[in-house]
Formats: sequence, C-alpha cells, structure tokens
Amino acid sequence: MLRNARGRYVSGSRLAAGLCLTRAAIHKQVVRLREWGYDITGTNRKGYRLENSPQALDTDRFRAASLGRPICHFPSLGSTQDELKERALAGAPQGTLVLADEQTSGRGRMGRRWLSPRGGLWFSLLLRPAIPPAQVPALALVAALDWAMVLRRATGLPACVKWPNDVWIDNRKVAGILTEMSSEMDRVHWVVLGVGVNINNPSPRGMTPPAASLREMTGKPFYRQALLEDWLKRFAGSLRRYQRDGFSAFRRDCEECLSMKGRTVVCETAQGTVAGRVEGIDGEGRLLLRTAAGLRRFGEGAIRLKKGDERA
Ligand code: BTN
Repeated sequence: MLRNARGRYVSGSRLAAGLCLTRAAIHKQVVRLREWGYDITGTNRKGYRLENSPQALDTDRFRAASLGRPICHFPSLGSTQDELKERALAGAPQGTLVLADEQTSGRGRMGRRWLSPRGGLWFSLLLRPAIPPAQVPALALVAALDWAMVLRRATGLPACVKWPNDVWIDNRKVAGILTEMSSEMDRVHWVVLGVGVNINNPSPRGMTPPAASLREMTGKPFYRQALLEDWLKRFAGSLRRYQRDGFSAFRRDCEECLSMKGRTVVCETAQGTVAGRVEGIDGEGRLLLRTAAGLRRFGEGAIRLKKGDERA
C-alpha cells in the first residue's frame, strides 16, 4: 500500500482497514520493515510514507549487468546452493543466478552454518569456466576481491580480502564465499559460487570470526540491488580476464587488499596446522607463509591471527 501511494502519506487507519490489522499491529510491521532496511517516515498526523526500499530488487534490470541470464529470485529457500546445483545438473547455462531474501539452511565453508535472515544478500551464481579445476579456488578469491572493491566504494570503509575468500572490514567478516564444483581431472563441468553479504540484516552474533552487517557498521541501510549490480558487472569482466590471463593478472590488487599481511597467523589445512607470517599471495592465488621451515605456499585452508598477534 505504501509503494502504491507513490511517495504520498497513507494514514495508519487506512493501512489498518486495508490490511485488517489494528493500528498497533501496523506500527509493529512498520518497525519490522525499517529493520529490514525500508526507509519509512511516520508522523502522528499524516501516517506513513515510503521513502526508499533497499529490499526491493528489480530482477529485470539485472540482466544487462549480469552475465546475460535472468535472475531466479525467491522470497525464501533452504539454500541457494542446493537450488542452483539442481539447475546446474539439469544443464542451466553459465550466468544463472539464484537469489533468496532469506535462507533457512544457509551453508558456509567447512560444513558451518550460515545465518541468512532478510536484509542480507544471499545468492549463488552458476559458472562453466574454461579453466582447469585447480584454478577454481583462486577464481573465488577474485570474486572476493571484487566484493571488497564494491564495498569500499559503497561504504568508504577499508574493506579487504581475508584469504582464501572472505571480505572483512575492521576485523569483522562482512561477506563469505562458498564454492562447490563438479569436474573431471582436467575439465570443469560447473562451479556454483555462493555469496553471502551481511548488508541490512542484524549482525550475526557469537560468530568466530566476528561478523558484522554494513548497516550496523555504518548506521545506514544500503541498496542490495545496487551492490549486486555493481559486483556482477565487475565480476563478468574479471571472469573474462581470469580465463585469459589467470590469477597473475589480479595478484597485485589482491595483495594490496589483503588483510593480515605481515602478521603472524595460524593456517589450518587438511594436512594440519602451521604458524607463520603472511608474506602475500603467489601468482596462482596461494597464500605465502614464512614459517620456521621457510617459505610455504597454501592452496587451501583457513587462517586466524596467532595468539599474541591479535592487535587490530
Ligand atoms: C563462508 O563460510 O564464509 C561462506 C558463506 C557462503 C554463504 C552463501 S549465502 C548464499 C549461498 N547459499 C548458501 O547456503 N551458502 C552460500
């Protein structure tokens, strides 16, 4: 009703009558809408007016910015990864994107849960890249780098990439990427790149590492649509470049944007745990760690600051 009023006030009693609710219930819903990022002005005399809807996604507009495919937009899903994987198996083309306003069983890396209430950006993008399977992990690093750039521009804050593919601002995780793929030894069938960005949702509590939403960090809501469009545009270009030139074309930007550079970290891998100082990233997207046994390269794993090197 507020959107239909096109910028005019709608009184509380008209909303109440139109929706068969009490005025107190209308007020409660307006409070919830504001929490989700809607900008609604309310005055006792005139009622409510919708100023801005950061939640609104105009999925037709994405087509131009995305990899040329329509967006499949759901109000709620278990996980966009599962929905898109089914479509990938059924032959969906590169660029198919599944987005959900909320996920009830969002998944993170290493089997962790990913909280995905309304207000955040939760989506999965289907890629069928012409690269060997070993180059897929660094492509996710490029996706994270593009997100760091988009968030820097949107917030003015120093967003950085936390290897292997998180985006952090001020020591808090704002975005994470989960990559799943199907391949032969030397050929990729599909990659499902799952992206979660905490935007207008409340910051997830009690997470390790600590997480934060853009809204809580800056005190203002953001347009999910604009952020997604911006990223899709960048990433479409990055994907072409990556397929042509490999990770070395992104190495310098990635090192400049890398969090924990020069710090002593613990790297947990499937092979065990190693401590060392972060030296940078190599031309294939692997982490360079100066350890007691010399310089080592890690293609997978998770890092955290070593105790005693936790200063910001
Ligand atoms: C991480 O652990 O940092 C990766 C988080 C990835 C979350 C996204 S949200 C959209 C997509 N669907 C999921 O279930 N997970 C990914």
